[in-house]
Amino acid sequence: MRLLFLLLFSAVLAAAQTLRQDADRTGVFISAAVRPAQLSEVAYASTLAREFNTLEPENDLKWAALRPDEKTVDFTQADQAVGFARVHGMKVRGHTLVWGWWNPAWLTDHPFTPQQLSALLQEHIARVMTRYRGRIFAWDVLNEAIDERGHLRSPLWYDKPGIGLAGQSTAYIEQIFRWAHAADPDARLFYNDGGGETVNAKSDAMYAMVKDFRQRGVPIDGVGLQMHMIDDLNPDFAGIAANIARFTALGVQVHITELDVALPIRADGNVRDLAGRVRQAEIYRHIAEACFSHPGCTAIQTWGFTDKYSWVRSRTNGAKGAALLFDRNYAPKPAYQALKEALAIRGLKKTISPLIQNSSGTCTVILETPCK
Ligand code: XIL
Repeated sequence: MRLLFLLLFSAVLAAAQTLRQDADRTGVFISAAVRPAQLSEVAYASTLAREFNTLEPENDLKWAALRPDEKTVDFTQADQAVGFARVHGMKVRGHTLVWGWWNPAWLTDHPFTPQQLSALLQEHIARVMTRYRGRIFAWDVLNEAIDERGHLRSPLWYDKPGIGLAGQSTAYIEQIFRWAHAADPDARLFYNDGGGETVNAKSDAMYAMVKDFRQRGVPIDGVGLQMHMIDDLNPDFAGIAANIARFTALGVQVHITELDVALPIRADGNVRDLAGRVRQAEIYRHIAEACFSHPGCTAIQTWGFTDKYSWVRSRTNGAKGAALLFDRNYAPKPAYQALKEALAIRGLKKTISPLIQNSSGTCTVILETPCK
């Protein structure tokens, strides 16, 4: 049986051409955050369309981008990304309707009353989601609302001054998800956050909220785990897998939404130590395996795809970079191959699990995991 698996695995790897083809065959979303301004660059556009079946505008659906002043709603950049996806048969994730950061000054500095803020936010959600109805299949409705201790943060939407539900715990979040569901009942609605990838105080709070929402019929379909690996290159893979398991057990999907694995770089942007790329590939592989071992983990999205364009250098004041699947010349890195192999294993598992399921329902022969 092991021989059969190895033969099939080699055949799949040999036959497979691109990450996108693997993703389509396996039925998962392989996605990247994109910058519409770069879509006119041939290598950027062709790599994106060839290798990914999904994309997400990195910044262009945030408040500060869409609403530069009180009167203007500017969809130009977001439309470019969504239009590119349509032409190339790709899906789109939306990021993000509500966040405590990246809000324009006219919004944060004006002394709005909770009633005014509530009307503004409801109108914003309805306007943006209606525009992209049928074209954006999943939305990060709310981003980063919980801190590392598991307490609610205090953005303007909660209690500065909030939308009228200040001090009432997650009631304001519930309201936002209900507005989003009313605006586009077909969209999948996600809560997205970073720092709660493994089992810890933050993810405990996220879990409690999602569980409560599911029990009371508040419309939430998924959890986005950002997965920026910038300061820590020793992720707790077992904890990440356990966390994904507990969320999917609630009946929600998990998407890995902002994966990048930063390496120390020289001033010219190149990696200091080439061995770092191997370690990086292993991290990509383990994260992908943690996701793909749960049928409810259905998307892996990287935060950009070429090292030419990534937020990591500015986020680390130039100390780190080279965090993505393709180098600055669009050549695939070992991390690309690692992700591809993890994907091939998920595909194979799907194909052969009926063949090797024994009477106890456990695939002990090869994979030593439950057949799903
Ligand atoms: C970042 C973008 O990558 C940068 O270009 C921008 O300057 C700031 O925002 N978590 C998120 C993303 O949810 O929206 C952030 O994106 C990175 C951290």
